[in-house]
Amino acid sequence: MNSPILEFKDVSYSFGEGDLRRQVLFSLTGKVDAGEVVIVTGPSGSGKTTFLTLIGALRRLQEGSVRLLGWELYGAPPKVLREARQNIGFIFQAHNLISSLTAHQNLIMGLRLHPEIESPSEAADNILDQVGLGDHLHKFPHQLSGGQRQRVAIARALVMRPRVILADEPTASLDSKAGRVVVEKLHEIATRQGTTILLVTYDPRILDIADRVLALEDGHFVGMTIGEAGQAGLL
Ligand SMILES: Nc1ncnc2c1ncn2[C@@H]1O[C@H](COP(=O)(O)OP(=O)(O)OP(=O)(O)O)[C@@H](O)[C@H]1O
Ligand SMILES: [Mg+2]
Repeated sequence: MNSPILEFKDVSYSFGEGDLRRQVLFSLTGKVDAGEVVIVTGPSGSGKTTFLTLIGALRRLQEGSVRLLGWELYGAPPKVLREARQNIGFIFQAHNLISSLTAHQNLIMGLRLHPEIESPSEAADNILDQVGLGDHLHKFPHQLSGGQRQRVAIARALVMRPRVILADEPTASLDSKAGRVVVEKLHEIATRQGTTILLVTYDPRILDIADRVLALEDGHFVGMTIGEAGQAGLL
């Protein structure tokens, strides 16, 4: 629970060129330990998604350093970025399930990149059962409710046993009760697997599942307690 899985230092980011260039992240520094559940929150436009995509090697770093699972992402060649991404489970607001595949098949698809997982079919069914979809293994996304689809997306991220899960507003399309169930499932299984979670949300009702909350405002971290800032390596 104490070696940092993620360390980021002086991460700044701007969109646009020339006169239109606008800085949206300002020298963000911190770290996340193995097994921690960290929520990144803040108003719309504060930079949450931009931050998460930088951490997740989905966007090229312009400035600063991100060390994820031992890889330095700044200036890293595509091969390293690809490898880093394969160790991350991504969950997005839009569940991104493949509509022509059943829940079971959607999970199997992702496992193709992970030959180290034995018995993919059993692993898929097992994790779908754990998120409460044991009776819906062979349904297509359109036959499932929004909450059930989001649980398939969570199962798909967890089945490859990633060391880190990055989730961007995984409950945004759900009512508060369904959203809570989804996040609690994610938390419960990730804790059991020792997975580190960074979850972006504007939903104050799920902040309590976090070990720590990082609040962004206009691209700066704000409002952390001294203890939290210390833990984040800011002091
Ligand atoms: N591709 C882009 N080109 C230009 N500006 C962008 C782009 N993507 C985001 N921005 C701007 O960067 C800022 C941060 O955006 P970001 O998407 O990270 O915010 P967010 O906190 O995730 O917001 P939300 O809660 O609405 O998802 C915003 O001002 C946004 O307008
Ligand atoms: Mg966003």
